[in-house]
Amino acid sequence: MCGITGYVGDRPAVKTAIKNLKRLEYRGYDSSGVAYSSATGIEVRKSQGKIANLESLIGAETDLSTVAISHTRWATHGRPNEVNAHPHKDCSGKIAVVHNGIVENYAILRQQLKIKGHEFISDTDTEVISHLIEDKLPASDQITAKEFLLATRQALKELSGSFAVGIISDYIPNAVFVARKDSPLVIGLGEGENFIASDIPAVMAFTRRVIVMEDGDCAYIERNSVDVFNLDGERLDRNVLDVTWDDISAEKGGFDHFMLKEIFEEPRTVRDTLRGHILENNRVELPEVKFTTEQWNHIRRITIVGCGTAFHAGLVGKRLLEQLIRRPVEAIVASEFRYSDPIVDDETLVILISQSGETADTLAAMREARKKGAHTLGIVNVVGSTLSREADAILYTQAGPEIGVASTKAYLAQLVALSLLAIYLSQDHLLTEFDRNKMITALKQLPEQIEEILGGCSHIEDLARRLSSHSCFFFLGRSYDYAASMEAALKLKEISYIHAEAYAAGEMKHGPLALVEPGVSIIGLCTQPATNEKMISNLKEVKAREGTITTVIRKGDEVPDCADEVIEIPITEDALMPVLAMVPLQLLSYYFARERGCSIDQPRNLAKSVTVE
Ligand code: AGP
Repeated sequence: MCGITGYVGDRPAVKTAIKNLKRLEYRGYDSSGVAYSSATGIEVRKSQGKIANLESLIGAETDLSTVAISHTRWATHGRPNEVNAHPHKDCSGKIAVVHNGIVENYAILRQQLKIKGHEFISDTDTEVISHLIEDKLPASDQITAKEFLLATRQALKELSGSFAVGIISDYIPNAVFVARKDSPLVIGLGEGENFIASDIPAVMAFTRRVIVMEDGDCAYIERNSVDVFNLDGERLDRNVLDVTWDDISAEKGGFDHFMLKEIFEEPRTVRDTLRGHILENNRVELPEVKFTTEQWNHIRRITIVGCGTAFHAGLVGKRLLEQLIRRPVEAIVASEFRYSDPIVDDETLVILISQSGETADTLAAMREARKKGAHTLGIVNVVGSTLSREADAILYTQAGPEIGVASTKAYLAQLVALSLLAIYLSQDHLLTEFDRNKMITALKQLPEQIEEILGGCSHIEDLARRLSSHSCFFFLGRSYDYAASMEAALKLKEISYIHAEAYAAGEMKHGPLALVEPGVSIIGLCTQPATNEKMISNLKEVKAREGTITTVIRKGDEVPDCADEVIEIPITEDALMPVLAMVPLQLLSYYFARERGCSIDQPRNLAKSVTVE
């Protein structure tokens, strides 16, 4: 997820675009840049790190420019450095592009353009856009705006993946061209000036009249006109929205907290993490994993290592990998692994899961594993993070920046990445084509199923209110449900500060049942047909001690008669049920904590990334 802005009008365009860009820093902050029109053509300034570093490069000489586009980056392809920072220009230097999204076919396009003589400077997918437009231009010294717009539309039609682009060029000297497909883009309408941005907050300092572009929309924007059309050049009419949000809630997309915003981003997170990894024949391709068949045949066992939520994703991954690859898989917290003199060697694959890629214990565990000769694979959300640079291979989750300390969308992305990995490692071995197709079909359905759950969030909000007087929770499950219950318990305890514990349901009668009394809440995950009969009898044992029972069941399954409350979720493959079960349980934790007046995005005593031991 990156942030783009643009401006055309009488204000100093560069400083205006960067002022608006700073409102998007939450979308990405590893590098930034600006392109602007000048008497000598298109100029570009870029820098690594925060936008403040870019601002230090901007002098008064830019004040005369009346057209500019700018970008703050969340790296998905290519390290977060100055060379890979946007904007990216073509060979002639007459076209500059900023982009939010993922160009899935950039490698083949880059290869084709290189054969035609185009020279690339960066490692990004984005740079192919500027060269592709250049390649589509007529061979002439005099290129009209109309010819440039046609070439640009033709180039965009060749892109697969997602894009929100801002483009300026010497060929359209007083205008900005924009287009969007699967990545957000808005146009801010001013008096004698106009703005573009990835998100509404970034234009609100100057205007509250906004056009929210739709997928497939393009626009040619001058200071006194905005023309919206499709990729075939056919004009479109778009409504103008009058934004009433205050500034702070605008940054959260109108949500009260980043955590809730990030839960509602989960359909997109799953789509983005799957994007580019499933071929037309439903085979999984993980080019960044770089695991040869010979290397894989040499691996006898897998150890999954992580902390907190990442470790809980590993508990699901253990079951999923063992189910598909039929080799022993263990999951262990990083702080235990690193001091246990672990039995790992060159026949062990150690998978390190980390959203930030900077967690001290997880990094230490990786270094310990490498020292012992293990092959290390990182499942990481932050491109260019320490873990992504030191592991032997990487599989990126595409959750975008996760601001809330309580991890939500990153957990779902980790489960999706582990599913892709399990299919990738088994598709040429034990996994039948039939079973692979079933898993892939189920993965592709997840975003819509998550949207269905999110559509019923008010039911979860009401349930949280009914349970808000409870101060002791047990989350129970068996098999995949037990693994999911570990994460659900962590969510509740870390943002609402009440006792919440996950337990293997079959363990309750071995001690914890003694704690059950009126006022104790039991959340029973019942999504696994193979163990549900035993699960429900465990819940009846709790009910007999007057605990309050909330069950999470698959839509259409019989509601256990011991249940006081029910959460129904869509049905998917057993191994993917934790992805769907977690959505209402994250919402339950959120609404419960809000009922208790907790701070939610910044829980007491916690940090987003634990970079100390
Ligand atoms: C989860 O909500 C917490 N924020 C915490 O447990 C977190 O998952 C853990 O610190 C690991 O962080 P990482 O994924 O960045 O390594």
